[in-house]
Amino acid sequence: MTRLTILEYPDPRLRTIAQPVDVVDDGLRSLIDDMLETMYASNGIGLAATQVNIHRRLLVVDVSDDHDQPLALINPEVVEREEVDVTQEGCLSVPGIFDDVERARRIRVKALGRDGQPFEMRAEGLLAVCIQHEIDHLEGKLFVDYLSELKRQRIRKKLEKERKLRAEGHPAARPKAPAI
Ligand code: NI
Repeated sequence: MTRLTILEYPDPRLRTIAQPVDVVDDGLRSLIDDMLETMYASNGIGLAATQVNIHRRLLVVDVSDDHDQPLALINPEVVEREEVDVTQEGCLSVPGIFDDVERARRIRVKALGRDGQPFEMRAEGLLAVCIQHEIDHLEGKLFVDYLSELKRQRIRKKLEKERKLRAEGHPAARPKAPAI
């Protein structure tokens, strides 16, 4: 398995709208495994293909404590939303930043699984938030888009400063909270 490079905000490639997956084959399953490895290694609970510069409608999630419930959703589509909740979100493409975002508390999702078979699932709480956040990535959307322009400006400055420090060999201390 290979650890993939995660694009960081404001990289314009994160704005690409992903195309549907036509064929679920071994190549795609190997990409799923690489995405899961990349997500776990980065202390993430979700990762969309867009974030690793592959513009296909594919995402992986695992909100379990023991990293033993990996889930791949191919061509996912939310078909039902119930209630609204505010959760503090982070994102592997916006490292170290966390803020409140409003999303549906419960959802019903249709997708293809890693076997290529269609399935439907219900999700609520963190899993529901995570799936909605990842589907946004496939649409070229980031959680910071829900924040004010002033906040986005501050975030861009902070990340730019951190990238500079990193280039000089002084990586920023990152919080241990999971990011999606
Ligand atoms: Ni994200």
